[in-house]
Amino acid sequence: MKYVLAPLAEFTDAPFRLTCHEAGADQTYTEMVSAAALFYGHGPTRHLMETMPGEGPVACQIFGANEEEIAFTAAEASKLMSPDGDKPRFCEINLNAGCPMPRIVRCGAGASLVTDPERVYRLLKAIVANTTLPVTLKTRLGPRLGENTVFELADAAERAGASGLCVHARYTSQMHGGPVNLDVLAELVSRTRLPVTGNGGVKCAEDARNMAATGVSAVMIGRTALRDPSIFARLKGINVGIFSGPEWARRHLDHLLDFRRMLVSKYPVDHVPCEDGYVGIKMHTHLFRYFSGMPGAAALRARLNSIRTLAEVREVLAMPALAPKNSDLI
Ligand SMILES: Cc1cc2nc3c(=O)[nH]c(=O)nc-3n(C[C@H](O)[C@H](O)[C@H](O)COP(=O)(O)O)c2cc1C
Repeated sequence: MKYVLAPLAEFTDAPFRLTCHEAGADQTYTEMVSAAALFYGHGPTRHLMETMPGEGPVACQIFGANEEEIAFTAAEASKLMSPDGDKPRFCEINLNAGCPMPRIVRCGAGASLVTDPERVYRLLKAIVANTTLPVTLKTRLGPRLGENTVFELADAAERAGASGLCVHARYTSQMHGGPVNLDVLAELVSRTRLPVTGNGGVKCAEDARNMAATGVSAVMIGRTALRDPSIFARLKGINVGIFSGPEWARRHLDHLLDFRRMLVSKYPVDHVPCEDGYVGIKMHTHLFRYFSGMPGAAALRARLNSIRTLAEVREVLAMPALAPKNSDLI
C-alpha cells in the first residue's frame, strides 16, 4: 500500500513535505496553487510550487474554475524541473474539487465542482491537453449525505483522460469533520477503472486497514501527519530513526531555514520575511501540533503562544522535557 501526504493549505510547503518524506510518505502534495493568481502573475504563488532537494515524488495541486487559467497553470507546473536532477519537478498535476472554504467555492472552484461534473470534465481536459504528467482529481463523495455525485465525477475524470482520483470520503456539508463513509468509497472503487486514493480520518493502523479494505490503491493522510509525521513509518512498518514530535519539529525547522535561504536567493525581488518573521509565521501552528498530547502540553502551549523569534523556537525545542524518552523509542 502507498501512503501519501494530503494537500493542506498553509502547511504542506516544501519543508514540511520533506519532513514527511523522511518520515516515510511515499508521495506528497503541494498546498493548493491558485490558477488565477499564477495566470495574473502573482509572484509569491510561485513559491508554493518550489520543491527542495530530496523531497521524493511531489504532486502539484491547482485550483480554479476557468479553463484558460487552469491550462496555463498546468503548463507552467509541467515545465518546472526538479532540484534533484534532469526530471520534471512534479510527478502529477492534481485538480482540487473539494475545498469547502467560502473564498474558493465563491469563485466556482473547489467544492463547488462537486455538483458540476461537466465543468470538472472541461477543466481536467484543459489540464490533460497541457501536460504530459499524469492528471488526477481530488474530490469528495458529494455535496451532502445521500447525494453521491462522486460516481459522475469519476466518469467525467475518466472521459477527460485523468489517470486517478483522490477521494475524501466525506461530503462537502461535513467540511473536515464527522464520520467518513467507506461504503460509498468501496462502491466507487468497484465502479471506476481509475485507481483511487482514499482519504479522510486516518489516525492509526486500524483506520488505514479499514480504508485499504475498500480496495483503494493508496491511503492519503492529512491532519494526523501534522501532529505526528511518524504515522507514515508506523503504517509501513519501517524505522526512520525519529519518533517524537519535538524531534520532528527540530528536523522541520532545519528544512524551513534551508528553504527560506533558497527563496531569498531565487526570488531576490519578492518579499521573503527575515528569519525571525519567517520561522515565527511558518513554525508557530506546526509547533502546537507537534507538542499536542505531550505531558505538560498546557504549560507548553502558553509558552508557544509567546514565541516570536528563531532563538525562542530553538530555546523551546532544546527544553530537556522534550528530549526523546526511552518509551518514545519503542
Ligand atoms: C488546514 C487544512 C487545509 C487543507 N487544505 C487543502 C488543500 O489545499 N487542498 C485540498 O485538496 N484539501 C485540503 N484540505 C483537505 C485535506 O487534504 C484532507 O482531504 C482532509 O483534511 C481529510 O483528511 P484527514 O482526515 O486525514 O485530515 C485541507 C484540510 C485542512 C484541515
